[in-house]
Amino acid sequence: MVQVSFAELCKHAGKEIVKVAGVIIMKVFITRKITETGVQLMRDAGLSVTEWTEKRDLTQEELIAHCKNYDALVSAGPNQLDRYFLNACKHLKVIALHSVGFDNVDLAEATRLKIPVGNTPGVLSKTTADTAFLLMLAVSRKAFFNHRRILNGQWGFFDPTLNLGIELDGKTLGIFGMGNIGTEMAKRCHRAYDMKVIYHNRHRNEQAEKEFGAVMVSFDELLQQSDVLSVHASLNDGSRALFDKQVFTKMKPSSIFINTARGAMHNEKDLTEALQDHIIWGAGLDVTNPEPMQPDNPLLSMDNVAVTPHIGTCTEETREKMVRLVAANVIAGLKGERIPYPVNEEVYRG
Ligand code: DGY
Repeated sequence: MVQVSFAELCKHAGKEIVKVAGVIIMKVFITRKITETGVQLMRDAGLSVTEWTEKRDLTQEELIAHCKNYDALVSAGPNQLDRYFLNACKHLKVIALHSVGFDNVDLAEATRLKIPVGNTPGVLSKTTADTAFLLMLAVSRKAFFNHRRILNGQWGFFDPTLNLGIELDGKTLGIFGMGNIGTEMAKRCHRAYDMKVIYHNRHRNEQAEKEFGAVMVSFDELLQQSDVLSVHASLNDGSRALFDKQVFTKMKPSSIFINTARGAMHNEKDLTEALQDHIIWGAGLDVTNPEPMQPDNPLLSMDNVAVTPHIGTCTEETREKMVRLVAANVIAGLKGERIPYPVNEEVYRG
């Protein structure tokens, strides 16, 4: 691709108005290719849709230049929709996120600029919980490490004392953030392994307490009592870099740390040292800090670690459901209606 300056990009992006038979067509820009159903739903609603098809992330300036010529943005991936971006694109009528997480958006600024921001709640909870469950099980039986042994020609001689995992049956699961995804993870662990569920959350989750006897505990109790501690909170100032050396030190030496929420919630150097120094037993990560994780990261060669590349919602069914919510947010936003899945409700107040 030819590199052009920001000024050039803005000039070319222009303020072109698309008219068909005298009718102004609203335009939607998507930061990457998404499941076709979503695009089709928007086109069926009469919108002009453009996807960024290059297999690289747009820089912020490229994104701004593109958005200048569009009415709605669908953001899928890591672009930071910060104060600078939002002020440069305050003409946007709606921003639809292809995610449940919205930590990449300056919501206060979007609200101040009266831009509704929508996400994809609910439809991905089970899939993400499946990923957490998969990692928990993979770590507990050193599955990724044992797979590598075969690839490396190390199946070899059977030694009954080597490569032993730990069992999950009847153990204590600690959930940090008992929202929809945390509840689904707890349900799976309770049903499959009769695990006792404790949780730390801003509010009580009565459904979880009733359905599988979950008990709300303090953060320190969560650290001290969990055999598996699974992170399901959203990333904010309170949870950023929360899981550091001091926190890992309070966990059981036999415990497993699982993070399928956001990598920025754990300090990866501290986590690596906690595993190397046997402060905790194992870790399963679907999110890393930073992303993408580099192939020479020491975590990837540890026998008690399982890492997947942020595939929490990555099934055909879930992606299909997600794009339907994305399209619903875009279509409503462009019609000037209240979007169905807003993360900044305040935009509709006052
Ligand atoms: C989400 O929906 O937030 C997933 O983590 C994808 O970013």
